[in-house]
Amino acid sequence: MTESSANKLLNGDACHRTSNGKRSSKNGFVKNHCVFQQPQKYRRPREKNQNVTRNSSLYKKPFSESFEETPLVVAVLTYMGYGILTVFGYLRDFLRYWSMEKCNVAQEKEEQKDFVPLYQDFENFYTRNLYMRIRDNWNRPICSVPGAKMDLVERASHDYNWTFEDTGRVVKDVINMGSYNYLGFAENTGACADAAIEVTQKYGPGVGSTRCEMGNLDIHEELEQLVTRFLGVESSLAFGMGFATNSMNIPALTGKGCLILSDELNHASLVLGARLSGSPIRVFKHNNMISLEKLLRDAIAHGQPRTHRPWKKILIVVEGIYSMEGSIVRLPEVIALKKRYKAYLYLDEAHSIGALGPNGKGVVDYFGLDPKDVDIMMGTFTKSFGAAGGYIGGKKELIDYLRRHSHSALYATSMSPPVIQQIITSMKIIMGEDGTTLGRCQTMALIT
Ligand SMILES: Cc1ncc(COP(=O)(O)O)c(C=O)c1O
Repeated sequence: MTESSANKLLNGDACHRTSNGKRSSKNGFVKNHCVFQQPQKYRRPREKNQNVTRNSSLYKKPFSESFEETPLVVAVLTYMGYGILTVFGYLRDFLRYWSMEKCNVAQEKEEQKDFVPLYQDFENFYTRNLYMRIRDNWNRPICSVPGAKMDLVERASHDYNWTFEDTGRVVKDVINMGSYNYLGFAENTGACADAAIEVTQKYGPGVGSTRCEMGNLDIHEELEQLVTRFLGVESSLAFGMGFATNSMNIPALTGKGCLILSDELNHASLVLGARLSGSPIRVFKHNNMISLEKLLRDAIAHGQPRTHRPWKKILIVVEGIYSMEGSIVRLPEVIALKKRYKAYLYLDEAHSIGALGPNGKGVVDYFGLDPKDVDIMMGTFTKSFGAAGGYIGGKKELIDYLRRHSHSALYATSMSPPVIQQIITSMKIIMGEDGTTLGRCQTMALIT
């Protein structure tokens, strides 16, 4: 994408006007308008919110998203349910206060009763009175592969979900609607499992050191070369944990005098990384380019607070696919903005890598953009690759710098060999380097 096309996009109203000339709403989205190219039969019945972008100078396909609005009756019933539970919660807390009901949660010590309470916040109230009633629906021990169906350890509670005990039985073939295993690579049979077993026999399951000391294996380097090729970047660096990839690398890149512009729906790992960096954080409305541009303009016009010196650098932090909403970042526009205002872009592809785009290479591939336009390409191996860990890809200088400055590169134990092999094998399958079309079929099945 050239600077001029970026400017055209931002200055003209092409990105805020749909193909039929309808004007967008305040946030740049167009409601009740559909330019989906998919056939009618795939459309969901109540598509209300449509985010539409059409700019032929950036990419050929019209980009549109739709979100099903919560039916009014469901919203009302949900709020009523919360209201009733909250009223009962206060009633039960009253009974607990007068020792008429047993309280199982952490409480202030008797001798510290006049201190500012350590535990009594709303979260604690919520956990005690609302979450505890439905707690059995979450974190149930699983005793099988996280496939389409899975087996659960049966457990029972005799004290209204405060504690559980195993009954010794297994609940078989429960439908799994929550695991990340997007492409089905986290199986205990097949090419990935076989390769991981072979590698475990050669290297063992653990490394026992950090990359910069005794934990740099040849397969770590093989993995990074493969990730580099997959992303189409100059270099890349792999980490043992996706969460730590964000929370430990953002502080290595930004600090005092730098500004972070963060989407309001960014993942907790990005938020933590931004906070740990010590840089001021300004939050823009979710996927809203008008809000982002306003923050960029303000940042350039006013500089740092009090001194009004220019910011040392401005980092825009976005995700490829937002995990809770399923929305896709308006990447062409974000890139245009970051070029126009000379900011840097950090893109978290945790959910989109392997799962989006004609070649499964994520949101950059989906829009047909140049990976070089994204300064820091981050992603995880937990979702599409069915493994663990994360990566950062980008310019060679960036990766060399992070290798020396990132806490997760310097101080964390390096990735376990079977996990590395799982990623290498699944990535090669997605790239078609295993000599089959299996990866392509799996990616296409997910996209359509
Ligand atoms: C956007 C995003 N980034 C980072 C992470 C953390 O990745 P991991 O679970 O691999 O530690 C997640 C986790 O779901 C995520 O959704």
